[in-house]
Amino acid sequence: MTVKWYRQGTCGFVELNNPPVNAINSDIRKGLIDAVKWAEAEGLERVILSGVGRAFAAGADTKEFDIPVTPPHLPDVVNHIEKSTVPWIAALHGAVLGGGSELALGCKYRIARSDATIGFPEVLLGLVPGAGGTQRLPRLVGFAEALSLIPTGKAISGSAAVTIGLVDLIDDNPVRAASLINQKKLDMALPVSMMKVFPVDTPKYDTARQIAAKRLRGQNAPLKAISLLEAAQSTSFAEGMQLERTEFLTLRQSPQARALRYIFFAERAAKAPNALRPDMKAPNHVAVIGGGTMGTSIAYAFLNAGIIVTIIESDNDGVQRASKAIEKIISSSLSSDRIKQHEATDRRTRLTVTTSTNADLRNVDLAVEAVFEDLIIKQKVLKELESALMPNVTIATNTSYLDVNMIAECLHNPSRLVGLHFFAPAHIMKLLEIIKSDKTSQAAMAMGYAVAKSLGKIPVVSGVCDGFIGNRILAIYREVADTMLMDGATPLEIDNAMVAFGYAMGPYEAQDLSGLDIAHANRRRQDTTRDPSRRYIPIADRLVMQNRLGQKTGSGWYQYPEGGGKVIDPFVENIICNEAQEANITRQSFAQEDIQRRLLLAMINEAANILHEGIAACAADIDLVLVHGYGFARWHGGLMHYADQLGAPYILTELATLCDEDPNLWEPSQLIVECAATGQNLIS
Ligand code: NAI
Repeated sequence: MTVKWYRQGTCGFVELNNPPVNAINSDIRKGLIDAVKWAEAEGLERVILSGVGRAFAAGADTKEFDIPVTPPHLPDVVNHIEKSTVPWIAALHGAVLGGGSELALGCKYRIARSDATIGFPEVLLGLVPGAGGTQRLPRLVGFAEALSLIPTGKAISGSAAVTIGLVDLIDDNPVRAASLINQKKLDMALPVSMMKVFPVDTPKYDTARQIAAKRLRGQNAPLKAISLLEAAQSTSFAEGMQLERTEFLTLRQSPQARALRYIFFAERAAKAPNALRPDMKAPNHVAVIGGGTMGTSIAYAFLNAGIIVTIIESDNDGVQRASKAIEKIISSSLSSDRIKQHEATDRRTRLTVTTSTNADLRNVDLAVEAVFEDLIIKQKVLKELESALMPNVTIATNTSYLDVNMIAECLHNPSRLVGLHFFAPAHIMKLLEIIKSDKTSQAAMAMGYAVAKSLGKIPVVSGVCDGFIGNRILAIYREVADTMLMDGATPLEIDNAMVAFGYAMGPYEAQDLSGLDIAHANRRRQDTTRDPSRRYIPIADRLVMQNRLGQKTGSGWYQYPEGGGKVIDPFVENIICNEAQEANITRQSFAQEDIQRRLLLAMINEAANILHEGIAACAADIDLVLVHGYGFARWHGGLMHYADQLGAPYILTELATLCDEDPNLWEPSQLIVECAATGQNLIS
């Protein structure tokens, strides 16, 4: 039974019972309608609605989103509850989200535990609330609060909900508290749909639209949600409900909602295979070797997860630098209210920063190497590390591009090495690429997954190749962007085109942010192995030679004046034109669509190769990497989901046309050729 009910005296108890989070499906909807009838037939004085297990209800069952809607619909269920002759009270704990919150709004009274999580996350799945949320919430809490919740998808605690009037009372035992409410008070409570509307001015809506455009850029649902809230103050409740339902059903089938659902399911599926789970044990004490940009933020990510950390630097200067860098992260976490003072103290007490001669590694159960990106240096560090650690301790390398098989060769036991490719800043970015070498053991893989789980990251396994999944796709993205620069586009045109597609910033602004030196060092590493028939564009090298390394040196592809902002730099345009002239290229203009088409096709083609070679296990893994590590718009679902919307036959035709220009750059992936021939999608 997904809905259970029973009576004690004149009080009815209705419990949602669909583990693990009481997702609202058609059985629950039917059960609730029956429960309303039962309570009326029994002549009860009140009904207390609660959830069994760890949640009240975490929203509609997403499994039903791709099948036709079947009655009874949730808005009708909520209406039945609200109109019942027996007053219903919502007793809330755990997740109270989406449809769960809408059920609560249908009740006459709401009591929550202070740690309940209450919200309307529908916009995050490309939807609007579909069971009266946009019409009831502003009547209950006012438009200003409703505008801060529904269009952002933000959830709040029970304690915060009581301060805005979303719940009436906080209690550790909401079911018991509900049984104690004065009957007269309950009988007189007004249904939320009949509460008076207190309109707000247009500027409040304009501000909400600006916030939505910034936070959930490119997405339709937040703007639709704002319009529905606006409608709530200008139309009747019944009309508003009609508008909301129509919008909900339209959005449900929209490409954005489908893409967001796809990536949501991909995220949920990204976890350790069953065979590794018994061996997954979170580390207790981690050594991080190299306390530079990455090492310090990796260390802080472990500190955040309650783990003991020892950072090992090469000398005392390095120790000072690393200590300062960690302190800076702690201070900024404090000032942005992400942690409290006692949490900062706790992190400091679990951290040691030292040199290898002074380090005590006896209790370390994971070591993460984050020294310079240089094979010889890494091998030297790892060799020393191996002899200092207990024999069963996993060693991880944070290399961005280097061959993990080659790195492992320096170890007596290469099976203990795994690549853990964190993204900068590691304490914020959600992605963790786990690189499996030819010899990586099950135990080391299990440790990789355990790290992802304890740090709250999304794990994606990659095989060994230059740049793994993400940086290999990034390399081709940059290569094709550079060919367009040489042939006639400007950095700004290319950046603007990709921002218009959905990126927060284009490839040149992004390089300026991360620094041009890393990619430069990587190009020098590839000098000896680069295919000589491949076009090489030296423009970025010219910038590096001028010490234009990006924002950190005040200039790169753009100039960054003291007062802030980015400015187009004629010097860069000169370099581009000179290089083109030297190479005898007559520069031509590129339309925005053409820039987008080329960059996306290049990435899709490389991703198809990655899949075909078995570097990525499935297309969804590539999408997780691009969305969580490289800023690919979530509402496109990721690169491969986007590719499947284009279809392999179209992609193949386009690649064939571009092949006429440069066969080395645009040779179609075998997988695309096969998919075009068989009619299969890239995502199987
Ligand atoms: P970094 O230059 O900021 O830091 C390297 C640190 O290693 C320096 O503080 C240096 O003193 C220390 N070090 C060098 N040799 C050492 C030794 N023998 N013992 C102890 N410490 C030693 O470099 P960054 O950017 O932190 O990169 C580190 C690794 O992380 C590289 O392999 C890089 O490719 C990778 N990576 C970098 C990312 C980035 O965005 N910077 C992103 C992901 C991976």
